[in-house]
Order: sequence, then C-alpha cells, then structure tokens
Amino acid sequence: MGESRYNMTNTHLLMHRFEYLQPATLKEAIGLLQEFGKDAEMLAGGTNLLVWMKMEQRAPRCVINIVNLPELKGMNDKDGVFQIGALTTIRQLKTAPQIQETYTALAEACASFGSTQIQIMGTIGGNLCNASPASDTVPALMAFDSELVLAGPHGERVLPIAKLLLGPGEVGLKKGEILTAVQLPIAKPNTGSAFLKLSRVRADLAKISVAAVIVRDEQRVVDCRLVYGSVGPTVLRAPEAEEVLIGETFNAELALKAGRVASKVILPIDDARSSAWYRREVAAPLTQDALCKAWERAGELRKPKPLEVSSLFHKVPVSFRVNANGKHSIRVLVNGVDHRLDVAPNELLLSVLRERLELTGPKYGCGTGECGACTVWLNGEPVLACLVLAVSADGSEVVTVEGLARPNGELDPLQQAFIDHNAFQCGYCTPGMLMMSKKLLAEIPSPTEDEIRDYLKGNRCRCTGYASIVRAVESCARGTREGGSDAARV
Ligand SMILES: Cc1cc2nc3c(=O)[nH]c(=O)nc-3n(C[C@H](O)[C@H](O)[C@H](O)COP(=O)(O)OP(=O)(O)OC[C@H]3O[C@@H](n4cnc5c(N)ncnc54)[C@H](O)[C@@H]3O)c2cc1C
Ligand code: FES
Ligand code: FES
Repeated sequence: MGESRYNMTNTHLLMHRFEYLQPATLKEAIGLLQEFGKDAEMLAGGTNLLVWMKMEQRAPRCVINIVNLPELKGMNDKDGVFQIGALTTIRQLKTAPQIQETYTALAEACASFGSTQIQIMGTIGGNLCNASPASDTVPALMAFDSELVLAGPHGERVLPIAKLLLGPGEVGLKKGEILTAVQLPIAKPNTGSAFLKLSRVRADLAKISVAAVIVRDEQRVVDCRLVYGSVGPTVLRAPEAEEVLIGETFNAELALKAGRVASKVILPIDDARSSAWYRREVAAPLTQDALCKAWERAGELRKPKPLEVSSLFHKVPVSFRVNANGKHSIRVLVNGVDHRLDVAPNELLLSVLRERLELTGPKYGCGTGECGACTVWLNGEPVLACLVLAVSADGSEVVTVEGLARPNGELDPLQQAFIDHNAFQCGYCTPGMLMMSKKLLAEIPSPTEDEIRDYLKGNRCRCTGYASIVRAVESCARGTREGGSDAARV
C-alpha cells in the first residue's frame, strides 16, 4: 500500500507518477517482475488497479502492462482439462457457448458482473488476483475444482484456487510469478451447475452469492459442490452442506436442508452491503434455488458447442518502457482521424480525448468505473475511458459520441430517437448511453426491455430516469426493422 500524498480519497485524476513497462512476452514480463519486485503492479483490464491508484490505495513505482502477452490468451480443451487464459475477459466467458453449456455457473457469474463495460474490460486473471471475497467468478471456479497455472522464474506450477486466495486482497503469488491460465476439469456426464447472486442493485457486488455443481445418476446425487461468496474473509466452500446431499435422492426439501447447514458454517459480517444476520437468513433459500436449477440442468442432454473467442486485446505485442517523468509517442485513430500524441504514463484516455483533442462528448462522472458517462469504443468495444491509460491505447481505434453523426452532420437514428423521446434532461449521461445503446443494437437488433436495461446497467442517469431512454432504444430498433434505417451501423 502506498502512502496518501494528496489526501484525496476519490480523485478523478491519476496524480501518482509511475514508470510504464509493456513487455511483449511472458519471459520478459517475469524478468521485469523480478527486477521490480513489490514496487511493481501488473495491469490487465485495469478495473481494479486504476481505481485503487486513483483512490491512493496503491502507489506502485512501476506498472507492467501484461495485456498483450500472447501466452495469457485464448481458451482450449486438451489433455482432459478446459484451459482459460488469464487475459480472457468476463464478457468472453459470459458469451462463449461452451462455457454457457458446460460451465453454466461460470457463465452466470460473469453475466452478474457489475456492468457491461466492466465485463468487457475486466479479466478472469484480474478477478482472481484481486482476491476479493465478493468476486463473482471465484465461487463458480472453486465449485468446478479449478486449478491455476502460475509461471515464474523457476518454471510453471499448478495449484488449487484456495491456495492462491489467502485473505481479502491477499494472494499467494511468489516473486516474479504471473497467473497464466485457469484449468477446469472436463465436466463428467450428467453434471449441472448454477450461480445465484443477491446484490443491492443490478450493477453491484454481491451481498451473498452461491455456486452449486451437481452430478446426478437418475434421481440420486453422485457428487456436489457448494461455494459461497461475500460471506467470509475469502470465498468459502461448505463441505458439511454438500454431505447432506451426496448419495441421497434429490428433492427440494433436501436442498433446503443443505442450505440450512450452509447458513451455519458460513462466516458473514456486517458491512455496507448487508448484515451478517440477513446473509445467514438468505443463504438457505438461495442454496435451495441454486441446487434445484443445477439439478434440472444435470438431467438435460447437452451438445458441446464449438469455441468462438474474440479479443479486445488483439494488438501485435511490442515491448517498450516509459519512465515516470517521460512521455511516449502514441498513434490513435479517433473518429477516423489519425493522431500522434506524446503522453505521460499517468495520462488517461479520457483526459487526452477531452483536453488534448477537445472531444468533450465523453464525460468525467465518477472517475472510478461506476457511472458509464465516459464510455467510448476502443477497437470496437465500449470501454470506460476514465480507466484506460492513454499510453496503452497506442495503435488503437477510438470512437466517441462525436463520431456517431454522419460527416454531413446528420444525426445517427439513435441520436434522433433520444431527441424524439426526450431521453435526456441535463444530457450529462447521454454520450455514454448512446455509445452503449448503439453497440447493443449492433449486437442485438431487437432487444427486449430487460436486455436493454441489463446492457445499460452500468450507465447512470441522475435526472431523466430510464423509462424514456429504454423507449428511445426500442423505437430506434423498431425503426430499423420497419423502415430499414441503419441504426445498428457501427
Ligand atoms: C464499477 C466496478 C464494478 C465491478 N463489479 C464487479 C462485480 O460485479 N463482480 C466482481 O467480481 N468484480 C467486480 N469489479 C472488480 C473488477 O472489475 C474485477 O475484479 C475484474 O475482473 C478485475 O480484472 P482486471 O483485468 O480489470 O484487473 P486489474 O485491475 O488489471 O488487476 C487487478 C489485480 O490483479 C493483478 N493481476 C491481474 N492479472 C494478473 C495475472 N495474470 N497474474 C497476476 N496478477 C494479475 C494486478 O496486478 C492487480 O493487482 C468491479 C469493478 C468496478 C470498478
Ligand atoms: S467517469 Fe468513467 S465510469 Fe464514471
Ligand atoms: S440526463 Fe442528466 S444525468 Fe442523465
């Protein structure tokens, strides 16, 4: 932990200066970690690290951006395990058909994540190494008996997740080690799983979460795992509750009995999100629901689906260093215009867009990933520009709300729909809402109201309310279907 130098608890700015290192290979990254030791932090999606640095909870002397390491990317199934690269994003996991079919609890955990933008930016490696007891992927990964592959100066080692997560924010990585992949055993036939999370609002961390995995033989439970988030110093497995089920004939009463046992063995506390009492009370019915879902799924016949993986991190790896007081020349294509800019390591993409390129459409709201006002597209994906280092965007294509209108100034049909439906009042959230809604319509041309609300769950509006925004998106989608306009053009 670094000392607070500016006495600011929630700054929009990244005041702290640091050296920026971008290795191109795993070997190079391990060498840098050995060189800098505890002075270094690794940067993957940055959704934890940049928030900690802005809030002065961490002040690393150097930041090692691992986002381009080819060794940490991709998913494959071979040698009896399904391997997920540490840089796989939460959104890739949520949408991969193979994860949805075979490791359903993991796909559901990823779907429950904070916001669409955080799902697009955050990685599974970052979620594990953040070591939060409220992490959404960890309960599901533990329930599937996953193991982690760590690469370091002395080679590779594989260890169970529980051995990496030592306490809140504490990981058992040795000096120079990087998490390269997560390995899930190939699921046995008749396995079903489910993940359920209770939170204060849709885009929030869990008050309590549970992942359930069941293997069934006809009406009997052959094997079972129950793992809980947000109810202890780390994610907790409840073997006592699993024993209630194993070998027995399944029914909803038995599932509730297992939940009651779990509610006694979890270790919840009172905090800002919930009380220990509530967490214990709700653990039993939540467990029952998760087990019943997992049980049903275990009885379904599933056809394995092929892997389809795209990546936000698709640049050809190039290694470079920028010292804390230095600048690096980046090249970015913004709204179709080629820019070359000298940027410092602690300059944010949002500041560069607003202050250097005078594109003030993207807004500074919270500065910490919570409001979505700063949303822009980076290489075609909506991201939070307040949590992107400008130096890391070298070689990328950026689109801001200014890039939505046609070159002749004609508004995009979605912008027009926002006007027609009075979908704004002060307009502060509107650029972020538009960038997200436009992308939603490209992905789902006829979204339901629930799909619109879920996609936009990370975009906050403090004045208009969401009903008119949802109506505007629906009407634009209808217009595309009926009138053939190009609302979904991206
Ligand atoms: C608004 C908001 C909402 C959020 N909502 C949720 C939520 O609903 N559920 C949830 O679980 N989390 C949530 N998070 C937390 C965060 O988004 C996730 O933990 C995310 O998966 C972190 O991944 P990242 O790639 O962004 O990590 P980074 O911020 O890049 O890194 C996090 C930490 O892990 C280390 N690290 C990263 N990759 C590796 C690696 N391969 N090897 C070793 N160390 C590594 C970094 O050094 C750093 O210490 C939220 C965060 C924000 C800001
Ligand atoms: S300003 Fe970026 S999410 Fe709020
Ligand atoms: S219109 Fe004012 S914040 Fe949404």
